[in-house]
Amino acid sequence: MNNTLAYAQALDTQDPLKHMRDHFAIPKQPNGDDEYYFTGNSLGLQPILAKEAVMEMLDAWQTHGVKGHFEGEYPWMPYHEFVTEFAAQIVGAQPNEVVMMNSLTANLHLMMVSFYQPQGKRTKIVIEDHAFPSDHYAVESQLKHHGLNPEEHLILWKPKAGNELLDHDDLYQLLEAHADEIALVLLPGIQYYTGQVLDMPRITEKAHSLGMTVGFDLAHAAGNIELALHDWQVDFACWCSYKYLNSGAGSVAGCFVHEKHATNTELNRFAGWWGHDKSTRFKMGNEFQPIATAEGWQLSNPPVLSLAAVRGAYETVMLAGGMTKLREKSLALTSYLRDLLKHELGDDIRIITPEAETAHGSQLSIMINKPGLDGKSMFSAIEAKGVTTDWREPNVIRVAPVPLYNQFQDCFHFVRILKECLA
Ligand SMILES: Cc1ncc(COP(=O)(O)O)c(C=O)c1O
Repeated sequence: MNNTLAYAQALDTQDPLKHMRDHFAIPKQPNGDDEYYFTGNSLGLQPILAKEAVMEMLDAWQTHGVKGHFEGEYPWMPYHEFVTEFAAQIVGAQPNEVVMMNSLTANLHLMMVSFYQPQGKRTKIVIEDHAFPSDHYAVESQLKHHGLNPEEHLILWKPKAGNELLDHDDLYQLLEAHADEIALVLLPGIQYYTGQVLDMPRITEKAHSLGMTVGFDLAHAAGNIELALHDWQVDFACWCSYKYLNSGAGSVAGCFVHEKHATNTELNRFAGWWGHDKSTRFKMGNEFQPIATAEGWQLSNPPVLSLAAVRGAYETVMLAGGMTKLREKSLALTSYLRDLLKHELGDDIRIITPEAETAHGSQLSIMINKPGLDGKSMFSAIEAKGVTTDWREPNVIRVAPVPLYNQFQDCFHFVRILKECLA
């Protein structure tokens, strides 16, 4: 493999998305150089368009006061609708299946209110053993809300002993073994610790064939890999917009409800006035009539400043040509990084993220394997030299070169610095 800086620079020169980096604010090191930023899987960098969109909203508020709900280029009353088309494209949905609202965990709860209806023997929920803690807490609390004991009603899909990665065949056996007891399968699209992509279409098909409902937490998948939620027949999905979608810390999250459910206004839900039929919302009546789209799950009038950041950030994804273009570059960047790591660091590290193209996104999860060195001190050592990655307990440095703003050169410098620190 060509392990020179000149080669990395040549790859950057040929990169069809190289101009996209100029659309982002890149944090600086103390010496004034750009940071080597690999944490788009945790908090994406600020798109210039996001800042502009937020400033426009502040100006509109200043100029119009309450009339801003109806006046100006982007009135607030329908503001969430300005991002619907983009959101639908990003997750492979129809516009009537998506809405940007609330936060990820709040949306998971709202979805479970509608899509976890324990009945008779069918009471159990399947999650993965190492689910993000918030998902685990949300599911346990939903079980308790229905008076069910998580010890009996929560089923954990675990990797085989000694493995980090989940084996889909184990899941399918587990689903079959509890075929008439499982009500809901709730899994990540991409596992946050290992970066493993789960086979969402096959999982959905299998679970549906056994009469189960399927939802996905797409925190690490949305804006990272190509999704086709509508065609895969996924029942519901939720994602946050601050990771690969660059909308700012804690920004408004996304929610997908498949058309076959979204149009069903009889579905049980927790309701609020923003989910009520738009033509009669301001009649101020007491009878709730849900909008017959994913918007029918909205509770409140949305935080417009935050949604403005989402609009600017989603527009930035579209400027790059959408998810197909991003994924092409992502695969090239990630495989360059993996090859360079293997070439330069050999057995001093272990990459636990699967290598098959269909089984990883932008993130590589790296364990330090060198006797006498621990991963956490390596994480801190590279950070002191301008490399921003993140550390996840118990043992992993997560590195995500993202196609919108990372360069091949960033990967080169990351490997060089990690090699220096390991030495
Ligand atoms: C996989 C996953 N699920 C859920 C969450 C919780 O997100 P929020 O705080 O936006 O509800 C996160 C946060 O990083 C996450 O990575």
